[in-house]
Amino acid sequence: MNTFATPSRPIDFERIAPAQLDALVRTAPKAELHIHIEGSLEPELIFELAARNGIRLPYASVDALRSAYAFTDLQSFLDVYYAGASVLLKEEDFYDMAWAYLRRAASEGVVCAELFFDPQTHTERGVPMGVVVKGLKRACDQAQREWGLRAELILCFLRHLSEESALQTLQEALPYREHFIGVGLDSSERGHPPEKFARVFEWAGQLGLHRVAHAGEEGPAAYISAALDVLQVERIDHGVRCTEDPALVQRLARQAVPLTVCPLSNIKLCVFPNLAAHNLPQLLAAGLVVTVNSDDPAYFGGYLNDNYSALLQAHPSLTARHAWQLLRNSLMASFAPPAVRADWVARLDEHFARAAQA
Ligand code: ADE
Ligand code: ZN
Repeated sequence: MNTFATPSRPIDFERIAPAQLDALVRTAPKAELHIHIEGSLEPELIFELAARNGIRLPYASVDALRSAYAFTDLQSFLDVYYAGASVLLKEEDFYDMAWAYLRRAASEGVVCAELFFDPQTHTERGVPMGVVVKGLKRACDQAQREWGLRAELILCFLRHLSEESALQTLQEALPYREHFIGVGLDSSERGHPPEKFARVFEWAGQLGLHRVAHAGEEGPAAYISAALDVLQVERIDHGVRCTEDPALVQRLARQAVPLTVCPLSNIKLCVFPNLAAHNLPQLLAAGLVVTVNSDDPAYFGGYLNDNYSALLQAHPSLTARHAWQLLRNSLMASFAPPAVRADWVARLDEHFARAAQA
């Protein structure tokens, strides 16, 4: 199968040396479509916010907290991740967290970031929805103004909680409808199939919101099919277990459903034993719209460019053309208007064409 798109201008990919590729990718325009903003909370900021808000942490120091980041599966991570998020109380805290991530993203060539946030993690602790949304949105608007970085919010429902809780969460978010562009589904996957959230996703669709869902990270390929059929999602977050169902792989390719794959996350959470064993090259070769993302960068040892670097290093078979395709996929799979995406892709093509001429 021809897995490559056609560039908007001729690019002589053969002339880009493997030794050049890492720097070229690091400086290329790219989109991040799978980042949990609470997963960007670095231990230093967790301690700063805890001190600011008078919260006692069950860790003696930043180093002690960081050394707790040894995960065996998704749940072992989520327990630490929710504990870290407990320091977020005020609008300023949400702003500071998002601003720190967006500043980093801008420095990595990110032109578009679609940020997941988990309101139930905060509203369950008594933090009002408006505090969460307004703080995050203020940082997003500032990123657009200062760097032209398009930053949008996607409200995620926690799948270990009930659908009633998800419905109530969407209801509470209605006054801020203009502040977020879509809904997603995250947290513990196994035992919480997409069907559980059919009604809340249907309602989100009626509200004109984009729909995405985590599926096939730890859960079976059937959850990917259900996310498409029952929740009507436009993208699948992770989706790496689709290869267990060849008919599903064909469907994902035919329907060009983007997968937001997170290489370092998949290693830290033991979805694959190491990066060399990761199936991303196989997914690309099958013609899937694969994108590279960081998931929870503060916990998984790397931001977006670290994910690209580690992936390219572990898979020498991935060439400049593959890297370009991954970057292009990220821009095209975003929810930005077509003209904006076309402009980003033209910039990407120019970036690669210039490197090939040097
Ligand atoms: N929430 C934060 N990171 C997640 C992940 N990798 N999977 C599911 N839920 C999450
Ligand atoms: Zn995720």
